[in-house]
Amino acid sequence: MQNFTFWNPTKLIFGKGQLEQLKVEVPKYGKKVLLVYGGGSVKRSGLYDQVMGQLKEIGTEVFELPGVEPNPRLTTAQKGVEICKNEGIDFILAVGGGSVIDCTKLIAAGAKYDGDAWDLVIRKAFAKEALPFGTVLTLAATGSEMNSGSVITNWETNEKYGWGSAVTFPVFSILDPVNTYTVPKNQTIYGMVDMMVHTLEHYFHLEENTYLQDRMCESLLITVMETAPKILDDLENYEYRSTILYNGTMALNGMISMGFNGDWATHNLEHAVSAVYDIPHGGGLAILFPNWMKHNLQVKPERFAQLAERVFGVNPEGKSVEKVGLEGIEKLRNFWNSIGAPARLADYDIDDSQLELMADKAMVNGEFGGFKKLNREDVLEIYRASL
Ligand code: NZQ
Ligand code: ZN
Repeated sequence: MQNFTFWNPTKLIFGKGQLEQLKVEVPKYGKKVLLVYGGGSVKRSGLYDQVMGQLKEIGTEVFELPGVEPNPRLTTAQKGVEICKNEGIDFILAVGGGSVIDCTKLIAAGAKYDGDAWDLVIRKAFAKEALPFGTVLTLAATGSEMNSGSVITNWETNEKYGWGSAVTFPVFSILDPVNTYTVPKNQTIYGMVDMMVHTLEHYFHLEENTYLQDRMCESLLITVMETAPKILDDLENYEYRSTILYNGTMALNGMISMGFNGDWATHNLEHAVSAVYDIPHGGGLAILFPNWMKHNLQVKPERFAQLAERVFGVNPEGKSVEKVGLEGIEKLRNFWNSIGAPARLADYDIDDSQLELMADKAMVNGEFGGFKKLNREDVLEIYRASL
């Protein structure tokens, strides 16, 4: 295990009826609030009215930025930055899924930066300051509610990159599982795949002596696998929704990844696909991750075998380590198939015509991946295997 410092300043407020906490938390940061939300789900569910009701009670002056896209776009964040700068916004409240929260992070940092917000995403400049912001999460998936990461798409240049800084943690996040009841089946599936892949991206590392971390990762994976079929049959079940919501946060808030660096290559591969084709992030991961695994099985087959035995119940007797690992990969693929996740790029009508372009996007900062560095040929092989 490597030395580490754990620091996560986000106040996590979890459970039924916790929206009331807005009245306690928001006044700490000021009167002028920019409310950021997506394409309309919060209005249909009634959450928008509830939030506005709470903000009115504390005399907040509310400005609004609606219409944040899934795979949030730079142009929308730039609009938010303008509002913050022109209106002297004190605080930003994101109400939505990972896209709304990620967009809010760029608005918060962009509001305190003199140049174009894109500079922060491409790391031409580093975010040293940001407006404070909080979140009301509506979708269990990204963990963005309790981390500092943000993923932004520049649709004009077909670029999608992750960025973040110590100043882009939410100051609070309110997670009421009831607010996720309306998430449709397909988004629920993508969310569960995303949180599983976050856990798996952590799991594949080269560090030794990570016994507790391994067990924590395995617990998160098993919990999603046990809950997934039940939740998909009963979308408004509080117990299942709360289990998945908590799981999504824990998979990417730093709690399970102390003392080692994970891989994260598949996230880079997926961001390059959705930069070109605008597909759902979790869908792209379900297609790519098993192929990344097969491609890298030989790097440390014992790691794959451990996963196969402990999480997928593969019996190792009389089999080589590689064979056990491979069976685990097949079981993961079968599980995702069983809940209705996509398995091939063709499921999104993606053929081989843009593979080179996607590889260019993925390779923009050179070779990548903590478990195994991928070069351009590796990238193309994984994409080809995913067609
Ligand atoms: O836009 P609205 O109308 O709100 O609809 C959204 C959207 O269409 C809908 N939705 C959200 N909550 C709902 C709901 N529909 C009904 N009821 C609700 N309660 O779901 C759709 C998808 O929302 P989105 O926010 O895009 O999903 P998700 O949370 O999966 O976020 C995906 C984005 O996060 C990035 C991804 O790349 C992608 O851009 N990621 C961010 C990470 C981070 N910041 O740490 C890590 C991840 O790996 C990921 O890359
Ligand atoms: Zn992800």
